[in-house]
Amino acid sequence: MALAEIGLVGLGVMGAALALNIAEKGHRIAVWNRSHDVTGTFHAGAGELATRITPARDLADLVAAIAVPRAIILMVPAGDPVDQMIAALRPLLGPDDLIIDAGNANFHDTERRAADAVAQGVPYIGMGVSGGEEGARHGPAIMGGGPKAAWDRIAPIMEAIAAKHEGTPCATWMGPGGAGHFVKTVHNGIEYADMQMIAEVYGLMRDGLDMAAPGIAGVFEAWNEGALRSYLIEISGHVARAVDPETGSAMLDVILDAAGQKGTGRWTAIEAQHLAAPVPVIEAAVMARNVSSRLSERRAGETVFGPGPQPLAGALTLKDLEGALIAGKILCYAQGFTMLDSASKTWNWGVPLPECAKVWREGCIIRSAMLDHMAQALTEDPARNLILAPAFTDLLKQHHEALRRVVATAALKGHSLPALSAGLAWFDLMRTARGTANMLQAQRDFFGAHGFDRLDGKPIHHGPWGSHA
Ligand code: 6PG
Repeated sequence: MALAEIGLVGLGVMGAALALNIAEKGHRIAVWNRSHDVTGTFHAGAGELATRITPARDLADLVAAIAVPRAIILMVPAGDPVDQMIAALRPLLGPDDLIIDAGNANFHDTERRAADAVAQGVPYIGMGVSGGEEGARHGPAIMGGGPKAAWDRIAPIMEAIAAKHEGTPCATWMGPGGAGHFVKTVHNGIEYADMQMIAEVYGLMRDGLDMAAPGIAGVFEAWNEGALRSYLIEISGHVARAVDPETGSAMLDVILDAAGQKGTGRWTAIEAQHLAAPVPVIEAAVMARNVSSRLSERRAGETVFGPGPQPLAGALTLKDLEGALIAGKILCYAQGFTMLDSASKTWNWGVPLPECAKVWREGCIIRSAMLDHMAQALTEDPARNLILAPAFTDLLKQHHEALRRVVATAALKGHSLPALSAGLAWFDLMRTARGTANMLQAQRDFFGAHGFDRLDGKPIHHGPWGSHA
């Protein structure tokens, strides 16, 4: 058999799907999995694609099966397993051979591994891949990071397997070092926020408008024909329509309301704090997941205080909810792109924000019609906050009143909307030229003589309270 063009380690759900995608696009691939049984079963199940797949028995076998200079994708769990695989592979590889970590790595780990690779004089790529199993199999969004020359070497294969937006591959180099994994992390933070906002309006429909799951499904299906058109709204329609085969009840009604997480949303919130680049909608989404898991405390709370959500009929319309979601989504993405920009500047990555929006248009979990408009707005002016881009200014002017009505009414009626409220509070901060931080500055100066600047520019930096402090 001819040598493979690329190798892949780790035939879990994502690795197997990605390997089949690569083979299907006509590329020969060598694969290895810790358990050889898995490799054998995978190869046997690959059908006609099996002729392009070389199953390797051990790592030396894998390395020998790949043409030089080699490229090997790691699809192993993030964290120690990646370090272990790099340590096991490196001694078997030549100086031009490339390791590509395609898992959901923390970008700090990727930066460290990239620095180690530079010190060893070998190439290393950290690559974000989004789209779940379906995306990996038929077209994910791919966010590359590391040496540009190394990315250029694998770009033809990555572009071939990536999702396409009107023919343009959703696979781009985002910058050196950990840039690709950082972009994927922010993608996931936005994913958490998008999901949370959808869950919040779902709650308003279920608990406030007394709607059953099939009716809610119909609303999501209708919204998917408008400004909210997106993968997450689409699947929300599907899950709301699904029926539990065990009980015949709506599937949503039998699922425990405690959400898990692997941590990428949390990383986004943490890094945003370090960067002083606020992403309050994402932070609220992470918080809401954490609170959701505190089931017994929530149940005790309901026993003590009584149930929160009260009827909303007559107070809010479905149009209000749609408008709130449109506004919330814009605010969340504006925060996410601003954070990316701050990170890119802090670490000198040069992340191309318009390209990032373009990569997210197809294949990934947050793909949506709106991202195409965001790509256009960022192409016009990558430095401008999205809320100030005319297309989004217009949408916000049209819908922020709905967001306000929804947040205010929900608060009065005991419905918790952490992400939508956080978006609104941020929006109102962002549209207030004269804020209230003058009070903070005065307080800081009072107790700590921290000083302040004056509006009139006079060179007096302390208040007349020195003797009282
Ligand atoms: C994707 C997803 C994928 C996964 C995340 C989120 O872009 O394909 O983001 O990477 O779903 O790991 O998982 P958690 O919700 O468990 O953090």
